[in-house]
Amino acid sequence: MCGIIGYNGKDNAIPIVINGLKSLEYRGYDSSGIAYFLNDKIKIIKEEGRIKKLEESLTNDTSNLAIGHTRWATHGKPSKINSHPHRVGNVTIVHNGIIENYATLKEKLEKDGYVFKSETDTEVACALIDNLYKKTKDKLKTLNKLQEYLKGSYALLILFEDSRDTIYAIRVGSPLIVAKGSNGNFVASDIPAILEYTNKYYLLLEGEIAVIKRDSIVFYQDSKEIKKELLTFEHDISSAKKEGYSHFMLKEIHEQPTVIKNFLEYYLNNLELIPDLSKYKKIHIVACGSAYHAGLIASYLISKYGDMEVSTYVASEYRYKKNFIDNKTLVILISQSGETADTIASLRLAKEYKATTIGIVNVVGSTISREADEVIYINAGCEIAVATTKAYTLQVLALSLFAFKLGIKKGIIKGIEKEAIIKDYLKLPKEIEKILKVDYKEYAKKIYKHKSVFFIGRLIDYCICEEGSLKLKEISYIHSETYPAGELKHGTISLIEENTPVIAVVTDKNIADKTVSNIKEVKARGAYTLVLKNKSLQLDKGIYDDVIEITNLNDLALAILAIIPLQMIAFEVANMLGYDIDKPRNLAKSVTVE
Ligand code: G6P
Repeated sequence: MCGIIGYNGKDNAIPIVINGLKSLEYRGYDSSGIAYFLNDKIKIIKEEGRIKKLEESLTNDTSNLAIGHTRWATHGKPSKINSHPHRVGNVTIVHNGIIENYATLKEKLEKDGYVFKSETDTEVACALIDNLYKKTKDKLKTLNKLQEYLKGSYALLILFEDSRDTIYAIRVGSPLIVAKGSNGNFVASDIPAILEYTNKYYLLLEGEIAVIKRDSIVFYQDSKEIKKELLTFEHDISSAKKEGYSHFMLKEIHEQPTVIKNFLEYYLNNLELIPDLSKYKKIHIVACGSAYHAGLIASYLISKYGDMEVSTYVASEYRYKKNFIDNKTLVILISQSGETADTIASLRLAKEYKATTIGIVNVVGSTISREADEVIYINAGCEIAVATTKAYTLQVLALSLFAFKLGIKKGIIKGIEKEAIIKDYLKLPKEIEKILKVDYKEYAKKIYKHKSVFFIGRLIDYCICEEGSLKLKEISYIHSETYPAGELKHGTISLIEENTPVIAVVTDKNIADKTVSNIKEVKARGAYTLVLKNKSLQLDKGIYDDVIEITNLNDLALAILAIIPLQMIAFEVANMLGYDIDKPRNLAKSVTVE
């Protein structure tokens, strides 16, 4: 969601901020804006739509200090007036997050004579800062007081017109990093925005304030100056570049053999680093979006190989329901970004009830990685495309190793079976490379003109379908639904018409016959059927129009292999339709508001 970048240094800040905003595009946005100092006055330019439009509105101005923002609308529709930066009196700000009590604050500020132009909560926060500054006449005191008034989450960059040389930054709930470059200092909501200039950064933590000048950065917590550790971003800058691929999504799909190989080499040799689940009475897995689908797969694998009760929940539901959590419950939170608002809230809830919490996270230093009792980093590198691919497969892989280790511990997996599973895991990189060589355009051609697509499967195949279907609808905007294959007859089969695409996943041989009967039912009603199956299953050719075969592996590894063709089909369909695959409409990479 909203992206933030600021620069204060020797170089022209305007192109640096625009570049930074482009690197943050992946977070999802609908408008953008920039504010900079010009002759001791702050100038603001903003536009609805893509950053290109903002660039077209720029003049030849130069400035050494600028802040920029990409907005993903929450309060008030996408429009020029609602986009950031907002200015009230002496104060100009950009904001990521939600001010929950903005309506009450607005009423009070209106009584004090403030008039609002936009529908946003951000303009209210801006007026509040201006109001507090008038009273305290001290910038740090103002920002400390601000935290007493604002409820919700906010990462703010603040410019005071009477302080020409400083960017103030404050973080409560929404991420911010502050980076040190050779020609100036940066502040941003995520690392890709600054990677072209530096990889040295500080992580701003809850309630901390940064005072960023051209040659110095000073941090404060509760009005006291604090020292912070300067961190180094270890991944190669290339992970934030397309490197010859037409799209980040395609590049990230093709990175899967490598990141999976690295993850396996490390953890299969260090299984002691995988958490021991046998200590717990029950396991809850909580996540959103694709991470939730990874959790669905994990619940099958852990209950099958670990003989344990496991339930997977959508975080936005979990945080509000009765969950029967106690100190013998393990709550696993899965999140690529580590900043998803509902997943963070679920983590905090689990901790309140004294459960043990484990985060499966990609972004190092993110909120979930810091607050969970234990964290497993999936090490996917930067994932830029909104539709997750490599982070999702690594989440499944991490959880598959949890199940594997538990199975060994409980004596369910032993001897030759253990060796065979390890061999299958190690085959994954090569098998993925093989399956990536298939021409998926052939299948996409039969799908892209349709209004609706259905995915069917049973048990683990159903979970794989959920992710395949989400990928397709996210980037192709084709209505797509997943059904447990046996459920289709209870209503949805009425939607099957001549040539309606039905994609069936059949990797689990124990349940294959049942799914096959369901495929026959839709085929008999005219559906175009595309079956994704494992090679060792013999299916009657008459039941499908097209078939994609993957090598038969143990299901601990197969669940990872099976998603690759579905990722590629989604990509090719969206590509045929000419959509903006890396930045699908209305979606955000990291959902930092509830
Ligand atoms: C958004 C993204 C999805 C992601 C979900 C959860 O919806 O577009 O790709 O799966 O959030 O994000 P997380 O960072 O918690 O894994």
